[in-house]
Amino acid sequence: MARRKKIYEGKAKILYEGPEPGTIVQYFKDDATAFNAEKRATIEGKGVLNNRLSEFFMKGLGQIGVPTHFIKRLNMREQLVRQVEIIPLEVIVRNFAAGSLSTRLGLAEGTALPRPIVEFCLKDDKLGDPFVSEEHIMAFGWAAQQDLDDMVALALRVNDFMSGVMMAVGIKLVDFKIEIGRVWDNDYQRLIVADEISPDSCRLWDMETGQKLDKDVFRRDLGNLTDAYTEVARRLGVLPSNVTHAAKKPTLIN
Ligand code: C5P
Repeated sequence: MARRKKIYEGKAKILYEGPEPGTIVQYFKDDATAFNAEKRATIEGKGVLNNRLSEFFMKGLGQIGVPTHFIKRLNMREQLVRQVEIIPLEVIVRNFAAGSLSTRLGLAEGTALPRPIVEFCLKDDKLGDPFVSEEHIMAFGWAAQQDLDDMVALALRVNDFMSGVMMAVGIKLVDFKIEIGRVWDNDYQRLIVADEISPDSCRLWDMETGQKLDKDVFRRDLGNLTDAYTEVARRLGVLPSNVTHAAKKPTLIN
């Protein structure tokens, strides 16, 4: 059997050349890292859950007209996506203070923000993905003004969609990170949502109890990460409702 070509291996995913030009196979690993990979672990079942959850969010975004790289899920751990030129910025949207914003500005975690705040970080592991301003982005040519306007608009549409979807299942979307890629349709350039949307890249708190259902469970040693992600998937109907919170291994529906 022909071996497929690995294009890139990141902390949580591997990208392989896709079956057709312009496509990529995105493989979700069980590896978890935090604090710029200073903390690492392999968490059984995480990749399977993130593959399904990212499919769920990307498909939903597509259905409301937000362009994404998602084409189709291939199997438990892989999805076929459109090849994009990734813009080297992490786009973060925050609805409530938490994480680095709380640290930076001394805001109590959970403080409601006056409006959704969009931030950019440079994608650079060696530098620890530093916070950058629009001024830096344009001066160093990481994106043009039009790209920036489009990125903010895209990120806010994702925020509205994700906030609504999560609120409907009793979960508060505190913040999230997305990555955005450039594609060309003939001579026409568009920006689309790429990478993944999963509890690895969002902060999700139970509305009633405040329980954390995202990667902070791993970052802060708050319990079993697979249980937390399984709970998110179960509430969204990505898993059958008879899967219990404490289920050892996720059982997936087709
Ligand atoms: O750490 P910070 O508060 O800046 O993170 C904001 C949001 O972006 C969180 O939901 C976090 O999970 C996500 N994030 C990410 N990847 C990074 C940095 C942040 O997914 N490299």
